[in-house]
Amino acid sequence: MDLYEYQARDLFEKHGVPVLGGVVAEDPATAKAGAEKLGTPVVVVKAQVKTGGRGKAGGVKVAKSSEEAEQKASEILGMDIKGHTVHRVMVAAGADIAEEYYFSLLLDRANRNYLAMCSVEGGMEIEQLAVERPEALARVAVDPNVGIDEAKAKEIVEAAKFDAETGAKVAPVLQKLWDVYREEDASLVEVNPLVKTGSGEIIALDGKVTLDENAGFRHEDHAALVDTASEDPLETKAKALDLNYVKLDGEVGIIGNGAGLVMSTLDVVAYAGESHGVKPANFLDIGGGASAEVMANGLDVILGDEQVSAVFVNVFGGITACDAVANGIVGALKKLGDAATKPLVVRLDGNNVEEGRQILADFAHPLVTQADTMDGGAAKVAELAAAGK
Ligand SMILES: Nc1ncnc2c1ncn2[C@@H]1O[C@H](COP(=O)(O)OP(=O)(O)OP(=O)(O)O)[C@@H](O)[C@H]1O
Ligand SMILES: [Mg+2]
Repeated sequence: MDLYEYQARDLFEKHGVPVLGGVVAEDPATAKAGAEKLGTPVVVVKAQVKTGGRGKAGGVKVAKSSEEAEQKASEILGMDIKGHTVHRVMVAAGADIAEEYYFSLLLDRANRNYLAMCSVEGGMEIEQLAVERPEALARVAVDPNVGIDEAKAKEIVEAAKFDAETGAKVAPVLQKLWDVYREEDASLVEVNPLVKTGSGEIIALDGKVTLDENAGFRHEDHAALVDTASEDPLETKAKALDLNYVKLDGEVGIIGNGAGLVMSTLDVVAYAGESHGVKPANFLDIGGGASAEVMANGLDVILGDEQVSAVFVNVFGGITACDAVANGIVGALKKLGDAATKPLVVRLDGNNVEEGRQILADFAHPLVTQADTMDGGAAKVAELAAAGK
């Protein structure tokens, strides 16, 4: 789960990372009040969207009075930044920036390790720096069992070529950022810029944090960080039903068992759909068990997508044999009753396939068509989806 900057700021503060005051606002009047509350001569109004490059897109603006903060907030709210609409801004105390640095800590899957990246040349051009002068971005491996202790923090600031005095001030901040990473079960903590102010203080001015949702059970407080308002409502519903669902922009609903099979089903449907002008509408993996309940939940979510005009159920019977899956489909259709309104193409194969097909044949539901092969099913569902569009 990616966090908003203001949420990252709060986590930083909780772990003692130096940050500046910030107030969240969803309308210009609240932004004005926020600027007054902060009481600093300069504030910065910042778009809160889960994407990078806000500054370059005009989503970060300086204001020298609360009236100006109100004005800048009204300009930024509603703005579109790389497809994300700005619903919230953070009014942050203005920093007197002398220098901007970069720091990030992330999971290095390839090396089964953590990786710290740090540069004395932080700021908005960091991506360009990484490409054009990779030597200016220090990369230091961090052992998960040790983390960023005093020695590691020193190694990082030296690799990034901080001068001794600044390095000595930055190092303890890196140790605190490690605390955020470890104690919150993050998979990314990025600070860009980490700044030195005119008076020599080190402050995290921007934060990007990704939390590992698999560790959610250890962090009851993380549930409050989920922003359901900006999630797709169908994805929220699927999550509540414990389904692996991703909404896509198409007309053919897809249900399969096993992520690999579902992904290849998406490919085959995308290919078959080309000549019919239709595309897959979602990814939905119902996993190993395909009980009537799971099948009904899956169908319910998919049929809730108005864009869907036909559904392809592609199941390979393994541990859960095809007859159980077929019974699941029958049960789901009975359960949904009149709510099932769109044609369903079902392709069953694998364990007990004959029994499974027979169950569906006996049920003889008018909306269900059986297919013998994955390609045949994809072609049929594409045709039905195009006709129902
Ligand atoms: N509180 C602040 N006071 C003074 N200047 C700030 C403050 N916050 C941000 N800035 C300036 O604005 C620039 C951009 O801000 P920030 O890093 O938050 O956004 P961004 O980098 O464009 O966004 P993203 O990190 O999403 O790409 C910073 O590099 C810094 O120079
Ligand atoms: Mg930034």
